[in-house]
Amino acid sequence: MSRNAPTGPILRANVARALVQVVIKNRTIDWILQERPEWVAEPLARELLYGTVRHYFTLRAGLDRQLEKPLRRKDSDIDCLLLVGAYQLAYTHVADHAVLNETVAACKPLRKPWARGLVNAVLRNWQKPDQTFDHPDWMISQLRAEYADDWQALLAANNDRAPMSLRVNTTRVDPADYLAVLILHTSARPGPVPSSIILDKPCASATLPGWQAGEIAVQDAGAQCAATLLLNSLEATTDLRVLDACAAPGGKLAHLAEEIAAHGGGHLVGLDHSTARIDVTRGILARLGHEIELITADAADASWWDGHLFTHILVDAPCSGTGTLRRHPDIKLLLNPAAIDDHVALQLAILENLWPMLAPGGSLLYCTCSLFEAENDGVVTTFLEALGKKGLQYGRAIEATGNNPSDDLDEHKEANVVPITLPTGRRTRHGWQLLPTDPRTDGFYYALLKKSADVPDTTS
Ligand SMILES: C[S@@+](CC[C@H](N)C(=O)[O-])C[C@H]1O[C@@H](n2cnc3c(N)ncnc32)[C@H](O)[C@@H]1O
Repeated sequence: MSRNAPTGPILRANVARALVQVVIKNRTIDWILQERPEWVAEPLARELLYGTVRHYFTLRAGLDRQLEKPLRRKDSDIDCLLLVGAYQLAYTHVADHAVLNETVAACKPLRKPWARGLVNAVLRNWQKPDQTFDHPDWMISQLRAEYADDWQALLAANNDRAPMSLRVNTTRVDPADYLAVLILHTSARPGPVPSSIILDKPCASATLPGWQAGEIAVQDAGAQCAATLLLNSLEATTDLRVLDACAAPGGKLAHLAEEIAAHGGGHLVGLDHSTARIDVTRGILARLGHEIELITADAADASWWDGHLFTHILVDAPCSGTGTLRRHPDIKLLLNPAAIDDHVALQLAILENLWPMLAPGGSLLYCTCSLFEAENDGVVTTFLEALGKKGLQYGRAIEATGNNPSDDLDEHKEANVVPITLPTGRRTRHGWQLLPTDPRTDGFYYALLKKSADVPDTTS
């Protein structure tokens, strides 16, 4: 702890202020980390914020039961302070008397000394309510409808903490060699895909061996399936031109660069519509030693395109993020079900805009970190139907028959769905769904589309 680190009451007051931003102002935890980092600079402050948000629905139910009437909106800082106190009582090993003393004392830095008695009374009488699913009702219903057999396991997994996963930068070091060095520092094991390593205990990434030298990046193991899935047909390809259309902050883009280098090189373009996120990407790529053409533009619009076809396109589409609730528990509070329709519309617009940029015989990998069918198979189905409506033949979702689908491809179709098999997760109608019920991965959806080699080039 630094010399000027906030003491217990100030730290808790800061966490309460941060929680107000999420609960009342609908801001993300990422916004707090970026705009008010001083509120959550201490590891304990981040643990209290993430934990209270993760268990918000249970804590809210318990607090509502104890308050005679809801606190006024202008006292939402006290309301949030009570939730942070209740979180510590219910879910941490902080001694009850310390929780009580420090939380009551936090009323002073919040300039609400009148609330001391209230905070003291509520926390003294605190009783943890029966465990709820800690998700909003609409999300529980949706997941229950889509995952009839294991929705409860899925909800429980969403409330767990995600492991810290690394991707080894194979342009710098071999994964097995890196792991041999790493385990001298901390306990770790290989992840489910060859480039991945999972740490038994999270730590500050900059303290890991080889971090400054760009030997590793922090990336979920499920996310590391994208590059290999997209490039699995690489041997047959000459003049490789790869587009990552929603690239920032560059995790999958950097992995693509590493896989392309392993196959002898090619041209890689990273595109994202956010200038700020492209700037972050630039910094991340520099540490890893990758020089990649970056474009700031809208992937749903073709005005940036120079007319050169791409042999491979990755669409890691903006989505609800519901596969990443372990890392982003604030999504449970902030996501509005109506937003799913907006995501679907944008996902389709991006696919329809990029498809003509794919060379005949090329591959497009559609990917989300969503658990919802609407954003996953639903989008792929609508996209294939839209190709059909435009007067083009479109691919049928061919029967999933294994890892080598080439025998099944119908070259008379504009788009064929290529079956995917990954080491964990489950097959879906068009692709593959990774689930956080395997704690090694976040929830990701992948669908691989191959363009027929016979499709005439309509771009010129
Ligand atoms: C799921 S994130 C991509 C994560 C990234 N592929 C990685 O692995 O690090 C989705 C990205 O899409 C970008 N995005 C959203 N709408 C876009 C659009 N219309 N055109 C291009 N990029 C967009 C967002 O800025 C965000 O960076």
